[in-house]
Amino acid sequence: MSKQTKWVKEDPNNKFVFWPSEEMKKKAWISDESIYEEAAKDPVSFWAERAKKGLEWIQLWTETYQWNPPHYKWFINGKINASYNAVDRHNKTWRKDKAAIIWEPEPVNEPKRVLTYKDLYRDVNKFANVLKTLGVKKGDCVGIYLPMIPEVQIAMLACARIGAIHSVVFSAFSGESLNNRMVDAKAKILVTADGYHRRGKIINLKVNADIGVRNTLVKHVIVFKRANNEVNMVEGRDLWWHELMEEAPIYCEPEVMDSESTLFILYTSGTTGKPKGIVHDTGGYLTVAYLTAKWDFDLHDDDIFWCTADIGWITGHTYSCYGPLLNGATILIYEGALNFPEVDRWWEIVEKYGVTIFYTAPTAIRMMLRWGEEWPKKHDLKSIRLLGTVGEPINQDAWMWYFNHIGNGRCPVIDTWWQTETGATLINALPGIGPFIPTVAGRSFPGTTHDILDETGQPVKIGEGGYLVQKSPFAPGMLRGIYRDPERYKAQYWSIYGDRIYYTSDGAIWWDDLGNIRLTGRVDDVMKVAGHRLSTAEVENALTQHISVAECAVVAAPHDVKGEVPIAFVVLKQDVSPSHTLENALFNQVVRVIGPTAKPARIVLTDALPKTRSGKIMRRILKALVKGEMIGDVSTLMNPETVEDLKKKVNQTD
Ligand code: WTA
Repeated sequence: MSKQTKWVKEDPNNKFVFWPSEEMKKKAWISDESIYEEAAKDPVSFWAERAKKGLEWIQLWTETYQWNPPHYKWFINGKINASYNAVDRHNKTWRKDKAAIIWEPEPVNEPKRVLTYKDLYRDVNKFANVLKTLGVKKGDCVGIYLPMIPEVQIAMLACARIGAIHSVVFSAFSGESLNNRMVDAKAKILVTADGYHRRGKIINLKVNADIGVRNTLVKHVIVFKRANNEVNMVEGRDLWWHELMEEAPIYCEPEVMDSESTLFILYTSGTTGKPKGIVHDTGGYLTVAYLTAKWDFDLHDDDIFWCTADIGWITGHTYSCYGPLLNGATILIYEGALNFPEVDRWWEIVEKYGVTIFYTAPTAIRMMLRWGEEWPKKHDLKSIRLLGTVGEPINQDAWMWYFNHIGNGRCPVIDTWWQTETGATLINALPGIGPFIPTVAGRSFPGTTHDILDETGQPVKIGEGGYLVQKSPFAPGMLRGIYRDPERYKAQYWSIYGDRIYYTSDGAIWWDDLGNIRLTGRVDDVMKVAGHRLSTAEVENALTQHISVAECAVVAAPHDVKGEVPIAFVVLKQDVSPSHTLENALFNQVVRVIGPTAKPARIVLTDALPKTRSGKIMRRILKALVKGEMIGDVSTLMNPETVEDLKKKVNQTD
């Protein structure tokens, strides 16, 4: 890595611009800048060529791209199977004995597990047969509520093999969150585990799973025995994974799937209290998962790729499952907490396995930065050759710390911008091309086009802020809809600038005239709390369900490590008096309804919320309060006096 510094643009806040080393340029799949131009000339052919070369199709498409705003389709009439591409293909080559998944359990004394492509092939086939035997058919939805163990990839790929749609739910979400998702998706089967290890304790996942399947269409719960904790098995409904697998036939013919058929849905937070099921197709998604994994992370056969994201998020789907496996790569997954038993656990794992590509979230980097560089220094991290970040804007200090103390100044830091909706990365520097600029994600991935618009829809100038949008042809892996909610799909993404422009809900700035983009964060009420996507409305919903709460408003406050945290302003019912016990009950309420990741950083009890004369809560004022910004004009409020009162309260608890 040359610490060189050809200025792309003068900026007093940013003195660093890095370019790929000669070694990286030589090794990288892509090191010729002309790829951008080539793709821009004919993006549809660019994607068609990559889809053809990168994947094995049962039948090629008759038309590459169709656009009926706000809908688009790719590889029309193409036939393909995702599990065949991720597993069977490699099982037919020397890669059958190559490690597909290396699993590190949290307890340090427990042995690791390594699944070769042959092992993965066997288990995916068998589990696909298990699902079939239980009556799962093409198009049915299967819920997956598992910790980070190889069975999660096995279950996902088994669904894909038989054409069932998987809906993975983050294992730290509550039973109630799981329940909402199972109901919405009309899932027939839930795959879960008895428990898992987290910070030295066993978490009983089955208890949550039982809440999750109440009053749903789920006929069977398949339970993987991971932690050997005692669980309640409901006769006739609950079945042990290992018993089913013992009897399952060893081969299952992969279903011939239409390219546009749904591979999975993944629920994510929007601006309302109800999470939306983002629908992803098969052929288009596989194409971008394959290509971005290969080009962004420069995946080669000798790499060990560790994406630390949980499988319950899109990052886990695309870079801890489909993307690398489609490339025949080796992935590492880790069950537990990053600071167990000590805060250098991650670096110990990197050293132990010789991880070469490491992909994580800025929030984790900021945490590591706080703990100090002595922790990574204890370990030999020389195997790492590429670093990635995702999930939220990264500040310069965190970027530089990552670059210097984890990458030792040798490795490019690939800052990838994308969303659950986009399925795969869209804006980032390519490792063999660069430049790598702290706080600047990079350029649009070849074959995609973004713009930054002002409120009136006019493109903004370099250095000015605006709203990030995407233009046709939309990347093949973009969402195909919101599950069973076509109106919300239109309203959310295709109404701000019309039905021909995809609205991302992110703020952005053009960094230079090369097309480099700096992302500045969400412009809606979606928060990124320690990298987890969460809506303020969901937290409000959870709180207002509590019997003592009259009304509440939740806003995001900036946080040094987590990026953002929810702050809840709560008005209690008239006959309820505030107490510590009640406050704790409110915190617990959020944990019970959503999960621990949504727990507010602070609950501010108040007699009233600032409202307009028509009774609308002025969240703008609350946001300004928690950010310590100027509050502005309050004269139009129905109750301007509450603002002073709230100001005192916010500062008091500080
Ligand atoms: C944010 C995660 C800045 C953004 C893959 C987006 C980022 C939201 C970056 C989607 C980045 C993701 N720089 N912001 N590199 N990557 N974001 O659906 O606000 O969990 O809209 O997908 O994360 O979050 P989601």
